[in-house]
Amino acid sequence: MLLTEMRPFQTLYSRTHFRYLISTKHPQIHKLYRTFHSTNHRLNKEPFTVSTVYDPVTGSLVTKPVAKSNHTEPESNSDYADALKDDRSYGSVLKSNQGSWSGNKKKSKVKSTWVCSKCGYADGQWWGYCRECKGVNTMKELTEVDNGGKTNGFQVSEKIVRSWLPKGAGEAVPLRLTDVNRGVNHSDWRFPLSGLFGDEVSRVLGGGLVPGSLVLVGGDPGVGKSTLMLQIAAIIAEGKEIGKPAPVLYVSGEESVEQIGNRADRMEISTDELFLYSSTDIEDILGKAQALSLRALIIDSIQTVHLIGVTGSAGGIYQVRECTAALLRFAKKTDIPVFLIGHVTKSGDIAGPRVLEHIVDAVLYMEGEQHSSIRILRAFKNRFGSTDELGVFEMSPSGLKAVKNPSEIFLSEGHSDSEFLAGLAIAVVMDGSRTFVIEVQALCASGSSLSRQVNGVQAGRADMIISVLMKQAGLKLQSNAIFLNVVSGATLTETAGDLAVAAAICSSFLEFPIPSNVAFIGEIGLGGELRMVPKMEKRVSTVAKLGYKKCVVPESAEKLLRRLDLGEMEVLGCTNLKEVINSVFITS
Ligand code: TYD
Ligand code: MG
Repeated sequence: MLLTEMRPFQTLYSRTHFRYLISTKHPQIHKLYRTFHSTNHRLNKEPFTVSTVYDPVTGSLVTKPVAKSNHTEPESNSDYADALKDDRSYGSVLKSNQGSWSGNKKKSKVKSTWVCSKCGYADGQWWGYCRECKGVNTMKELTEVDNGGKTNGFQVSEKIVRSWLPKGAGEAVPLRLTDVNRGVNHSDWRFPLSGLFGDEVSRVLGGGLVPGSLVLVGGDPGVGKSTLMLQIAAIIAEGKEIGKPAPVLYVSGEESVEQIGNRADRMEISTDELFLYSSTDIEDILGKAQALSLRALIIDSIQTVHLIGVTGSAGGIYQVRECTAALLRFAKKTDIPVFLIGHVTKSGDIAGPRVLEHIVDAVLYMEGEQHSSIRILRAFKNRFGSTDELGVFEMSPSGLKAVKNPSEIFLSEGHSDSEFLAGLAIAVVMDGSRTFVIEVQALCASGSSLSRQVNGVQAGRADMIISVLMKQAGLKLQSNAIFLNVVSGATLTETAGDLAVAAAICSSFLEFPIPSNVAFIGEIGLGGELRMVPKMEKRVSTVAKLGYKKCVVPESAEKLLRRLDLGEMEVLGCTNLKEVINSVFITS
């Protein structure tokens, strides 16, 4: 019997009490006591003690050996060998239990945090999965050893940071808000970015570049992050709006200086003050940056840089966090704005930008479809402005061009109002805080088999919408085969897409094409009524910005949207499906 299985005895009876029971010579108690002693004896001889931890995966207590001082592994005992199998995953739990069971005095305090490498969620405790994003095996341990105030873990970054300190600690004093803001003109404070392209980027940043800000630009590989940043770097270096060029350093850990130079050549960038550097060592990069007295620093990408002295390889969670922290302190202490490029990754091995979202001042995401040249830059977080703004660009052979009137993209790419294209409707869905317009297609074919095929819409939801259309809107869909499809393999997971699904079906059934500049937002209830969905304002302003002319919404949302500046877009509030059919499917 293992020591832990004796724990109830330890808690219930003191040792004296136990001895008293033994003196009664009760045979079972006597046997237990002997086993207890022999186990204790064996454990004392071997450099191990035993600890019980709660395993959240199996939902039971798991007993494990914990090495005492000299860390030799037990080989003889099969129980121990079994327990050791899981040691990799339970390592730190064991560590924290060690003190109490072995009775050793703690020399230093080990602080462990478990951070999800996928979504950045931090937990004080290890679970078998991430409790935020439900990712399995994504929780990585971050350990910091505290030796009476001095941290062992990240000495190097502390050393680096110290050299950027303009003032010693304690010299700064708390200031009154009115004193801080006196004589500061906030429009002068931000650095303006000139030109059409600059305007678009400026708007996403909240009206210009803030000195000392740390901005993360995330996106899928190949979406155009390096291209975007090279163009931004050139604009900042030129400083046309203030008539004074200044150095900007573009550091790449992925490409050589020649490769970046080639790209800049193709994009017709020829700024004297743009400096290129290829390095992956943060200490080296910050050293070079200081020598240049920069206007801005760009790091491409955060997953390729590393800090000597921090554990893990570049791109790992420790490195990414520590490098970002060092750059944040650099930005704050020198007032030089720093841009970081971060790849969005699906694998848990490389820490994605989500891990850094809480450290940086602003997070911009660049989005784009694989087969489309349109790129959207959106603020996901911004300490210096709103997150409702988005910039629309087009990728051309000579770099990104701002799209002045985004509706043109959809007119040229989109379908004309032809009678052959009945059955298409535009839905507006959110992914996290990001808005997407998605085209839903429907085909109602009478006569043939009565099958139903749905792609990209939940089958149950589609059935419900079809039934509601038949019962509440009076559509005779009974004798039709119905096919539903969401373009480009996207999936409608939100109920906000219900109305577009219904509109597409109506359009196909009535053979009435919906104009391509109309969007549909709303959930459908069983009574055929339209219901509000979350973040209505954000969805509607996005479609207005994208150049749509009409947006059909639930009537309850119309009032809410009145105060928004939607340009030329008309918001059409409807209470139920009948009303939608009567107002959309009519010839004017
Ligand atoms: P890039 O900026 O390297 O992407 P990221 O840094 O996000 O990985 O851009 C990659 C794509 O952009 C590449 O497939 C080619 C295209 N591209 C253009 O179409 N025109 C250009 O002028 C440039 C520089 C790139
Ligand atoms: Mg790149």
